[in-house]
Amino acid sequence: MTPVPVAETIAETRATVAAARAAGRVVSFVPTMGALHAGHAELVRVARRLAGPSGLVVVSIFVNPTQFGPAEDFTRYPRSLDADRTLCGDAGADLIFHPTPAEMYPGHAVAFADVTELGDHLCGPSRPGHFRGVCTVVLKLLNVVQPDVSVFGAKDAQQVRIVRRMVADLNVPGRIEIAPTVREADGLAMSSRNVFLDAAERAAAPRIYAALLAVRARARSGETDVARLESALRADLAAIPGARVDYARIVDDDRMQPLPRLDRPGLCAVAVFLGRTRLIDNLTLP
Ligand code: PAF
Repeated sequence: MTPVPVAETIAETRATVAAARAAGRVVSFVPTMGALHAGHAELVRVARRLAGPSGLVVVSIFVNPTQFGPAEDFTRYPRSLDADRTLCGDAGADLIFHPTPAEMYPGHAVAFADVTELGDHLCGPSRPGHFRGVCTVVLKLLNVVQPDVSVFGAKDAQQVRIVRRMVADLNVPGRIEIAPTVREADGLAMSSRNVFLDAAERAAAPRIYAALLAVRARARSGETDVARLESALRADLAAIPGARVDYARIVDDDRMQPLPRLDRPGLCAVAVFLGRTRLIDNLTLP
């Protein structure tokens, strides 16, 4: 498969999209930060299905500095454009938008996008400014590509709910679709950060998903008390060798707020450090 062409400028990307649209093609879009893996390939395949065989599938690859905190892993975030181009081609993409930071953030910006409430819990408090960075870059990318449909991964559960809400509240054209989390054979959710795990951490990592499955099993067998479910979850996570739990919460699946009882759909979400690597995962409940 020929590597997918790369556009580095907004103007070039817009010109390609405009030509596709003028030809009546559906435009679908997958925003990523690169270091692509099988989970991203699935997002691209979903985007291809949604665009149809004659549609234009655009993937953006941009490690967005504004969504990383000062002590986070922006500089060491993996980058692998050549391999990403091949993966995108195999999965059915037509164009990669790979801007430089200067192309995306040419000067001192004074306007940003953000959401309230949905970022109050889970990753919001642990990563101050993260969702403002995500919302701003996603809105900018949507303004560049102007897709009919964009595909996000379910692994970033809070992110996709926030983006959906931003798009709805700000009347951004195009719809947002969610593709299921892709897992390794042992259950570990695929993530670009998994490459940072050493052998012991990699061996321990699937226990995160096992802990989530145990919560779901308890919920399905009738436990509705969220405090009890959360405390069992924390105990399971704390028993993972080398793990440091950032958060382990059950929230309302829609508004991402604390939920005393599982009397409506919930989201069980965790962030766990294994060494220096922060892994997130989630399951809907019950
Ligand atoms: O999920 C990601 O990879 C990023 O947060 C996104 C949506 C590409 C924005 O930078």
